[in-house]
Amino acid sequence: MSKSVVIKGGTIVNPDGQSRVDVRIENGKVVEVGANLSADVQLDASGCIVSSGFIDLHAHLREPGKEEAETIETGSRAGALGGYTALVAMPNTDPPQDSIAVIDFVREQGKRAGLVDVVPSGCITLGRLGETLAPMAELAQAGVTLFTDDGVGVQDASLMRRALEYAKGLGVTLAQHCEVAELTKGAVMNECQCCTDLGLPGWPSIAEELMVFRDIELVRITGASMHFLHLSTARSVELVRAAKRDGLSITAEVTPHHLSLTQELLSSYDSVYKVNPPLRSAEDIRALKVGLLDGTIDAIATDHAPHPRRDKEMSLDMAPPGMLGLETALGVVMAYGDLEIKDVVSLLSWNPARIAKIDADHGRPIAVGESANICVFDPDLAWSVDIERLASKSINTPYVGRTLRGRVRHTIFKGTPTVIDGQAQK
Ligand code: DOR
Repeated sequence: MSKSVVIKGGTIVNPDGQSRVDVRIENGKVVEVGANLSADVQLDASGCIVSSGFIDLHAHLREPGKEEAETIETGSRAGALGGYTALVAMPNTDPPQDSIAVIDFVREQGKRAGLVDVVPSGCITLGRLGETLAPMAELAQAGVTLFTDDGVGVQDASLMRRALEYAKGLGVTLAQHCEVAELTKGAVMNECQCCTDLGLPGWPSIAEELMVFRDIELVRITGASMHFLHLSTARSVELVRAAKRDGLSITAEVTPHHLSLTQELLSSYDSVYKVNPPLRSAEDIRALKVGLLDGTIDAIATDHAPHPRRDKEMSLDMAPPGMLGLETALGVVMAYGDLEIKDVVSLLSWNPARIAKIDADHGRPIAVGESANICVFDPDLAWSVDIERLASKSINTPYVGRTLRGRVRHTIFKGTPTVIDGQAQK
């Protein structure tokens, strides 16, 4: 029997409201909610919010194949420290997640680490090459619910149409990385006046929006479900808003970095700011925030993309795109998102749990009988990143020297604390 745990003195945030009560946990479940509770392990939550644990729809855990950058264990630990209890593992591993063998391996490594639920996504196409469909039925049978070629978009409209038809039949969701590749060759930053001045090749907004538009229309004719990954432009938000108004089964996410950082940072020529899709303009950020508030955007997902220092130290054109996200997401969202606490929890937990179809155990209300996957965070604590203390194997975070607000104090995964007072427990 595991030790009983009590979370004391915090404010619970549930979809139906907030309340100041203690929470008692036993054998992986919430067993009591009320005043003056006690247990074997007592976690102080004074001044803190107690919410369901966060779910990241978009984490690059790099294992198998790129363990120099991250492993499932180090990524899981970074996730736990960021308040996460489940991570959807992106498929651009080596080999990619297009077979049962690799899916099983990722899941098993997740269980071995035991810090979060690692939920492998499956590739849409074999090898993420965009040529032949992956064995979607077989992967769906093995429990895969989200399919994506993330890192690249599926370029071939006919293949994408077929993938959506299969997805509809199988009851799974396709998650698209929206980028028309012909328009972004060699690009390192957003196409804007600034990129012309800097002499850097630009990644135009239209490269994202064309694929968003195409896929909305493919969803319209197939009736399938689609999730748009890391949307970054004002027009993409408008397109999704209109598609939702038409009743299409579409969801969308934005990243913390696209809500907080702008294209002008590339004037430093520092590759820590190189990311795909690129950092955009202040107007785009404003539109993404409106999208979060009016429900057009359903989730905030990290696109946690660790890269070895040696790779990120290459020149801007050679360095791989991507930045860390798991340990800083809450602090960035609270500092830059202009959101109420309830919206933060909804975007980081309740909605992503539904999109990943793991809402039987995650993103649940804090209530008796529910699985104890819980995050306790101080919403007001200002802090900054200490690069020496990151749990991630990589250090490519753009937030060094920036003040973040809101920090995870404890994380509880299946009833066991994985983080206590900001310290990982294993
Ligand atoms: O910046 C990015 N990095 N965007 C992606 O879509 C892929 C990711 C990676 O895998 O490094």
